[in-house]
Amino acid sequence: MKIFDAFKKKKEMRVISVFNQKGGVGKTTTVVNLASALGFNKKKVLVIDMDPQGNSTSGLGVEEPEVTIYDVLTHEKEINDTIIHTKSKNVDLIPANADLCGLEIELLSVDKKEYLLKEELPKIPENYDFIIIDCPPSLSVLSINSLVSSHSVLIPIQCEYYALEGVSQLMNTVNIIRKGLNPELEIEGVLLTMYDSRNNLSEDVKNETENYFKDKLFDTVIPRNIRLAEAPSFGESIIYYDKNSKGAIAYLSLAKELIKNRRK
Ligand SMILES: Nc1ncnc2c1ncn2[C@@H]1O[C@H](COP(=O)(O)OP(=O)(O)O)[C@@H](O)[C@H]1O
Ligand SMILES: [Mg+2]
Repeated sequence: MKIFDAFKKKKEMRVISVFNQKGGVGKTTTVVNLASALGFNKKKVLVIDMDPQGNSTSGLGVEEPEVTIYDVLTHEKEINDTIIHTKSKNVDLIPANADLCGLEIELLSVDKKEYLLKEELPKIPENYDFIIIDCPPSLSVLSINSLVSSHSVLIPIQCEYYALEGVSQLMNTVNIIRKGLNPELEIEGVLLTMYDSRNNLSEDVKNETENYFKDKLFDTVIPRNIRLAEAPSFGESIIYYDKNSKGAIAYLSLAKELIKNRRK
């Protein structure tokens, strides 16, 4: 019985890729602020920045990191030696910078290059509740490594004209990964971002997305909120930059939804 209890208590680490091959849809904004909101709710979170632009790295207040995910993927560094604390409570980070740009070419002749990240994750001490991966806006080896390593994918969709353009390609990618490299990959949820309640278009996109994704759509919708766009230039998540803003309230609500889904 005791052994069983101990087993039950062992934390289950949930690895989530935030992915959409379109740029500018709110992936990085979601990674930084969802991670911070989960941390605020006492969940231990590790963010892995897999985008050479390093926006979630700077968004979490880390400038010019000395070691990055590049060093992990090229076996220059032990993964645990690249994890750093951020000023967001309970949020750690494996940073990225422009070094990652050349990785695709450097890996051309490497075997099993889709599994480089997945092979490293078991070395991480199991005290994280969530690992959240920021993917680049492309279907590169970096995105594939992320999706192969993940339990699930969280898909941000921007409320704009042609919002669902590219979604079938995205779902196609997810299905290809499922058929081959990672049959377990689930859809964590689809998140509407930059929703503007004064605009009919946002409502149209919401209805369309609901029809397409049904119950996979998160109840939480992220509003267009200038404070969310400002926060990164201060290296702060919205939770610390302006806790009472609409953006902060929305990401705290998303964090609650994610935690609740895990308990189901
Ligand atoms: N809800 C929002 N309200 C206002 N601006 C936003 C919101 N979400 C993202 N942005 C801004 O839109 C731009 C693109 O967002 P970002 O998260 O970097 O997208 P991605 O990572 O998908 O490329 C950034 O300048 C960001 O500050
Ligand atoms: Mg980004």
